[in-house]
Amino acid sequence: MSAPEISVLPARRDDLAAIMALERAGFPAEEQWSERSWQGELLGERRTVLIARAHHPVGVITLQTTDRSADLHRLVVAEQHRRRGIATALIRAGLLAVSHHGARSVLLEVAYDNEAAIATYQRFGFEQLAARENYYGPGRHALILKFWDLPRWAESQLAAESGDGREELE
Ligand SMILES: CC(C)(COP(=O)(O)OP(=O)(O)OC[C@H]1O[C@@H](n2cnc3c(N)ncnc32)[C@H](O)[C@@H]1OP(=O)(O)O)[C@@H](O)C(=O)NCCC(=O)NCCS
Repeated sequence: MSAPEISVLPARRDDLAAIMALERAGFPAEEQWSERSWQGELLGERRTVLIARAHHPVGVITLQTTDRSADLHRLVVAEQHRRRGIATALIRAGLLAVSHHGARSVLLEVAYDNEAAIATYQRFGFEQLAARENYYGPGRHALILKFWDLPRWAESQLAAESGDGREELE
């Protein structure tokens, strides 16, 4: 489902408090990132931090581009706004941004039992690359997911935006 009233824009330093509110509501205490970690994302080099806003922030994503690859570090959407395509809009905008910065693929780690996140990433086109046992602690395994052909995907998105894809749909 689309969320036309949502805008996705780069985060500003003064969004930190709103990001922390999303973080605390979105993850159990033992999995929460600290304010310092988020500050590192907002101030760090080659980071792409984007916020989805309705009237107020309802979701955030952060990625880091390293040479020809990017890592998707974090994604969270406020509970009452889920299943409306907001994470998908954030991932799409994030991937277009890191593609623009030269990344050709995107990697991420996700807890093996985080069904909502795995479904969101797989539906978007991420594929399982590997599994890491006890990655987050005893019994807390991780999956490594990869989005492979970023340049080709980005090209198709931009072509669709500019109307080049219209003939294919007709
Ligand atoms: C994972 C998360 C970001 C998804 O956000 P969202 O805005 O609800 O995702 P979308 O609306 O874009 O979902 C896209 C598709 O993913 C799948 N999906 C998303 N949530 C799902 C769920 N709970 N169960 C099954 N499928 C799900 C669906 O196919 C969905 O499409 P549909 O609603 O048309 O069926 C959100 O659940 C969240 O913030 N979770 C807590 C934080 C977290 O775990 N972050 C990821 C790890 S860093």
